[in-house]
Amino acid sequence: MRIEGSVAFVTGANRGLGLAFARELLGRGVKKLYAGVRNPEGVDLPGIIPVTFDATDPAAVAAAALCCGDVTLLINNAGIGRVDAGALDPAVIDNAREFLETNFYGIIRASQAFAPVLLGNGGGAIINVLSDVTWFAPPILSAYAATKSAAWSFTNALRVDVRDKGIQVLALHVGFVDTDLIRGFDVKKSDPRLVAARTLDALEKGHEEVLADAQTEALKRSLSPNSPIT
Ligand SMILES: NC(=O)c1ccc[n+]([C@@H]2O[C@H](COP(=O)([O-])OP(=O)(O)OC[C@H]3O[C@@H](n4cnc5c(N)ncnc54)[C@H](OP(=O)(O)O)[C@@H]3O)[C@@H](O)[C@H]2O)c1
Repeated sequence: MRIEGSVAFVTGANRGLGLAFARELLGRGVKKLYAGVRNPEGVDLPGIIPVTFDATDPAAVAAAALCCGDVTLLINNAGIGRVDAGALDPAVIDNAREFLETNFYGIIRASQAFAPVLLGNGGGAIINVLSDVTWFAPPILSAYAATKSAAWSFTNALRVDVRDKGIQVLALHVGFVDTDLIRGFDVKKSDPRLVAARTLDALEKGHEEVLADAQTEALKRSLSPNSPIT
């Protein structure tokens, strides 16, 4: 998909990786850029149109799709997570229920609401922000990783369903990124600007999966040399 001249809707574009996507999209000449955010007053990037959006609220997601009828690129970036004490932590169940509402059902809601918009505009693309924990779950991320694996599964189903209708579905897998989500983690972190740039490069090349850092590339290689059969 060509980004220049496209109309993008980025969920959670007020900070972190979503903000990096917004800046990169503006730099690449999008015609219009919507920021789907819980608090529109918290968006102050020039050239961006804030739209009320809560991934956990079906009515808010539907209303956003209705008011942004010219969208051709949806980036499902909004996500949440916290650490667990480990896989045996009783809190894993409640945490997973909470995270699923945004990380899994939120992606389904937005994809289902915006796919008809994209189709009405002659096709386009959906980027789903996943993670390397899709394939390897550290125990302290038991709940979070499960929600990203679920989102990966839906992403694969969605891709097959809409590919022939002119919608490209790109899955972003990446390890630690330097944002609020992992503030306080003493680990090597990728620059969100590089992750956004690498992802949009992959989109423009027509790819269906992007591995945005070396660690994620190595992890994927260790699983299988083959692409998913889709
Ligand atoms: N950071 C990492 O290491 C890492 C690695 C792999 C994947 N990811 C993924 O990257 C994506 C972006 O995360 P980030 O690292 O940029 O984290 P972040 O800095 O914590 O930002 C999260 C963003 O999601 C928004 N959000 C959360 N719940 C929402 C909801 N119900 N409706 C709408 N927006 C909501 C937040 O909005 P508010 O400001 O209103 O809270 C915020 O804009 C997530 O999907 C995350 O899982 C992150």
